[in-house]
Amino acid sequence: MWTDSFGFLLFMIVLSSNYAYSVSVKDKYAWDLLIFTQQWPQTVCKEWKQHNPSHKCSLPSNPEIWTIHGVWPTKLHTIGPAYCNRSWHFDPEAVKSIEAPLTQLWTNIEGDTETYALWSHEWTKHGTCAAELEPLNSEFKYFSNGLNWMRKYTMSDILAASKIVPSNEVQYTLVNIYLAVTTKLRVNPAIECRNVDGKSWLVEIRICFNKTLHLTDCDGIKGFKHKSAPYDHETIVTDILTNCDPQQKILYPKDYRPVAPFVIVQLYKLVSWLQWFTL
Ligand SMILES: *[C@@H]1O[C@H](CO)[C@@H](O)[C@H](O)[C@H]1NC(C)=O
Ligand SMILES: *[C@@H]1O[C@H](CO)[C@@H](O)[C@H](O)[C@H]1NC(C)=O
Repeated sequence: MWTDSFGFLLFMIVLSSNYAYSVSVKDKYAWDLLIFTQQWPQTVCKEWKQHNPSHKCSLPSNPEIWTIHGVWPTKLHTIGPAYCNRSWHFDPEAVKSIEAPLTQLWTNIEGDTETYALWSHEWTKHGTCAAELEPLNSEFKYFSNGLNWMRKYTMSDILAASKIVPSNEVQYTLVNIYLAVTTKLRVNPAIECRNVDGKSWLVEIRICFNKTLHLTDCDGIKGFKHKSAPYDHETIVTDILTNCDPQQKILYPKDYRPVAPFVIVQLYKLVSWLQWFTL
């Protein structure tokens, strides 16, 4: 009798601890929305070189485009979850058929790192958590979805529609950028700047999706404050989610790749022509 009830008790303890274990694992990996982050390659490259002057960038061949940084499941008011399944490794074969567009649109700008470093990191850290959703439950689906969002919510087009284009002369206000995005998408984005050389550089714009993959406000994501900024002399725009200084103009730099290659090509043509001419 005593051993019976002891056995039963033991059974109950094992059962409930198992239950507690599954609940806590579920909690640990629970998330509320997906952050889709696009980055401006010129600023990312500038920052990468800032870390170490020997660093090289690998930029997309189109100098006008934004690229994907990542698609990140996130719990409101906190970061993560991350690494939801450490045994699910990144396999380059699974994205072989979309490797060309991924290279252009989900570019590993930190050029001195391994070819698959960015995708591998994004998959193991974030993709394995996003995989909880059926439309994102494989490497192929996760990366394809990123490409689809990139084509649908192309930041260079969204900004250009409000006459915000890369420039090394004109600078923009935080409100310019914020209104460009909200006018087009009707949701609150998060705008991120980097401070380099005492200036504020536009680096990332995040937009958010709920768990049925509909656009939603990014309010509540960690790392950003709601700020107010002047629109004109009379109006103030409030609730801008950003880390940028609202008082400072923002640089959205044009591709600064040197024009030298073109000059060299012309010079080479001239020299070959002269050689042909003199021989
Ligand atoms: C983790 O990933 C592996 C490899 O894809 C898979 O077999 C396993 O079922 C996954 N585990 C969970 C808890 O989803
Ligand atoms: C996501 O947003 C859409 C549109 O606002 C809404 O219809 C849907 O119920 C939301 N899904 C979730 C899981 O909140």
